[in-house]
Amino acid sequence: MDILVAGGHGQIALRLLKLLAARGDTARGLIRSPDQADDLRAVGAVPVIGDLENDATLDAYVQGADAVVFAAGAGPGSGAARKRTVDLGGAVKLADAAKAMGVRRYVLVSSIGAQDPASLGGSMQEYLQAKADADDYVRAAGLDHTIVRPGSLTDDPGTGLVTASLDLGGRGPVPRADVAAVLAHTLIEPATIGLTFELFGGETPIPRALTALTAGL
Ligand SMILES: NC(=O)c1ccc[n+]([C@@H]2O[C@H](COP(=O)([O-])OP(=O)(O)OC[C@H]3O[C@@H](n4cnc5c(N)ncnc54)[C@H](OP(=O)(O)O)[C@@H]3O)[C@@H](O)[C@H]2O)c1
Repeated sequence: MDILVAGGHGQIALRLLKLLAARGDTARGLIRSPDQADDLRAVGAVPVIGDLENDATLDAYVQGADAVVFAAGAGPGSGAARKRTVDLGGAVKLADAAKAMGVRRYVLVSSIGAQDPASLGGSMQEYLQAKADADDYVRAAGLDHTIVRPGSLTDDPGTGLVTASLDLGGRGPVPRADVAAVLAHTLIEPATIGLTFELFGGETPIPRALTALTAGL
């Protein structure tokens, strides 16, 4: 598969690109700074230079992909405006490009709490509202989407063991390495199409955690 990961130098994204390249996919990472290109090449990925905020369209980057992943984010130090232009606007532009280029598969990294942004105040509310609006847009775009909502990200080593749940409102940590592994598996697990699920560290091997999501539906 040819997979374009937006936010390609992010901490989850680099781990994901490495996994994709190792299994033989063409792993392309969209980055806005050419200085980051060597870090992508070092994990076997192909750097693609583009800017989620300042490029009018992402069509040229998405062209030729079999799937896209949105793993970008404005980050905790950013203000409300960049949460709208990156976390929301970037995800929207990626969905528009996927539709325009005929790419059906879209996996979006969202966040726990996005089902109820108003439950928190200040910058967390702005962040979660941007995530919620992005999720809604991608859900309504008519794509084969999956929305992954991780808990609090850690840099602990991956375990390959997670808890994935369609019941929203959970809390807990999850290593970025396991989020990346879940994203990689989600891309090849059709049972996840159309789902929004929360993700935490847990005790279930990733392939089984994902197929179990639809077992009771
Ligand atoms: N922290 C948490 O506990 C938590 C929990 C749940 C979900 N999440 C979400 O998980 C996602 C990934 O997290 P992470 O830790 O891997 O994020 P990260 O390391 O902060 O990576 C985010 C990436 O987005 C890129 N980006 C920002 N603006 C861009 C633009 N205009 N064009 C292209 N790329 C741009 C950044 O690139 P630059 O280097 O150019 O800035 C950066 O590489 C984020 O969406 C985050 O909100 C986080």
